[in-house]
Amino acid sequence: MERIKTGIAGLDEMIKGGIPLGRHIALYGGPGCGKTSFCFEYLYRGAENGEPGLYISLEETPEDIIENMKSTFPLFTRTQEFIDNKLLEIVKPDKLQLEEVANLLEERLTNAGLKRAVIDSATMIRLSFGDVAEYRQTLFEFLSLLRNLDVTTITTVEASAARRDEMTYDIEHFVMDGIINLYNLDRGDHRVRALEVMKMRGTDHSRDLVPFKVTPQGIKVYVGEKVF
Ligand SMILES: Nc1ncnc2c1ncn2[C@@H]1O[C@H](COP(=O)(O)OP(=O)(O)O)[C@@H](O)[C@H]1O
Ligand SMILES: [Mg+2]
Repeated sequence: MERIKTGIAGLDEMIKGGIPLGRHIALYGGPGCGKTSFCFEYLYRGAENGEPGLYISLEETPEDIIENMKSTFPLFTRTQEFIDNKLLEIVKPDKLQLEEVANLLEERLTNAGLKRAVIDSATMIRLSFGDVAEYRQTLFEFLSLLRNLDVTTITTVEASAARRDEMTYDIEHFVMDGIINLYNLDRGDHRVRALEVMKMRGTDHSRDLVPFKVTPQGIKVYVGEKVF
């Protein structure tokens, strides 16, 4: 089976080499959990490998993302080079609509040979719907369209709870091919970052909750270590 390596240290090992090609992953986490950093690294590692990536940001402007990522990952020195060479594109659509996101993806697939894409976040789109049933229907239609596109996507979702035992299931849990959860666990006087692969259709994967860190060189997932 063909796979797309996330390039995030330790993570590919947890999913037996990478995300199965063409699948659609949801990345869950509360604010500050590292979702944007995770998605940016996914595209940056692809660009290093010559795979064009598109970051569709529904909240922050492209300028803000570039600026924030420069401070989070000071050793990612090739961002501007990748943008200039069309290996990385960050866009903020004018409208908060899945139709707009789908159009962008289709256009870049045809014209730029897109391999990786990020949608940050689905929650922004969900909030633009007054009616949950309507969102569910639109999301289903969007995903069936994505399945016909040769691109491997990560979509972020704001987690509804901070604690692992308080997580409820959202509509995205059922429709996406894979789910990765990021946590910022409360340890009284400090917080500890942890990650788990909850679901990954088409491949075996680790079911451990493991610690991770956001370092200047990138995200590091400590496979085989315990969360304290
Ligand atoms: N230079 C840095 N060094 C270490 N951690 C950082 C740095 N810059 C940001 N962070 C961490 O990354 C978090 C933001 O991550 P982000 O990817 O924006 O999360 P999310 O998208 O889930 O809200 C910050 O709350 C901070 O803890
Ligand atoms: Mg974010």
